[in-house]
Amino acid sequence: MPKPDLKNALEVGHRVFLREPTARDRQQIVALNRVSRAFHRGWVTPPIDSEGFARWIRRCRQANVKCLLVCRLADGAIVGVFTLSQIVRGMFHSAYLGYYAQRSYAGQGYMTEGMSLVLRHAFRSMKLHRIEANVQPENVASIALVKRSGFRLEGFSPRYLKVAGRWRDHQRWAILIDDWRRLRRPRRAPSPGRGRQSRRGSLSPDRPRSG
Ligand SMILES: CC(C)(COP(=O)(O)OP(=O)(O)OC[C@H]1O[C@@H](n2cnc3c(N)ncnc32)[C@H](O)[C@@H]1OP(=O)(O)O)[C@@H](O)C(=O)NCCC(=O)NCCS
Repeated sequence: MPKPDLKNALEVGHRVFLREPTARDRQQIVALNRVSRAFHRGWVTPPIDSEGFARWIRRCRQANVKCLLVCRLADGAIVGVFTLSQIVRGMFHSAYLGYYAQRSYAGQGYMTEGMSLVLRHAFRSMKLHRIEANVQPENVASIALVKRSGFRLEGFSPRYLKVAGRWRDHQRWAILIDDWRRLRRPRRAPSPGRGRQSRRGSLSPDRPRSG
């Protein structure tokens, strides 16, 4: 398998790296999204044809949007996509985060490591203060991902977002740069006899479980 060229990588982890999409990714992304249609149904509506891809790439180029592809280090395969949108500066320094995995690469820890790289990029390079992910209460895999990445449940909003033609309830999960920094601190071994556990039990963003 050819090793990917990392010169455009924004963050590099153990098994995956992040890069921005280009027009050359059209074929791969459209093909993967088509194969993943049933897997994405009801949660996300990524581009499944050339026109949709062109619209998406135009959106990715807007100043208040940052699209990030999660690519496998072993072969460069695009295993998932994260999008930071409505990036607001000023007093807010905040953004919304959307994401999806490709069906054939899901459930292998790539998105968890990808999320840790996205948070590192958003907080360290982009200097954001807060990231919010809105998740439907039934989306077990997505809730597991935000939980293990250190997001905190902030609230519930009925009929919050129109996804695939329907207004759907969402939980609002968020992470602040302060939370992220705290999670990155090396954990001390619990002192004997106290048996204290980590409050959140989530994953350190710089130390993905994938190892
Ligand atoms: C939400 C979504 C991105 C979550 O992705 P995911 O595939 O569960 O995330 P990961 O790639 O990190 O995989 C995690 C799973 O891999 C397992 N895993 C297997 N091998 C692993 C390894 N080597 N390292 C780490 N985890 C591994 C983990 O145990 C975990 O499984 P579990 O949840 O049963 O414990 C994905 O389900 C998806 O795209 N859904 C459709 C679109 C969607 O809902 N988007 C979000 C809208 S809010």
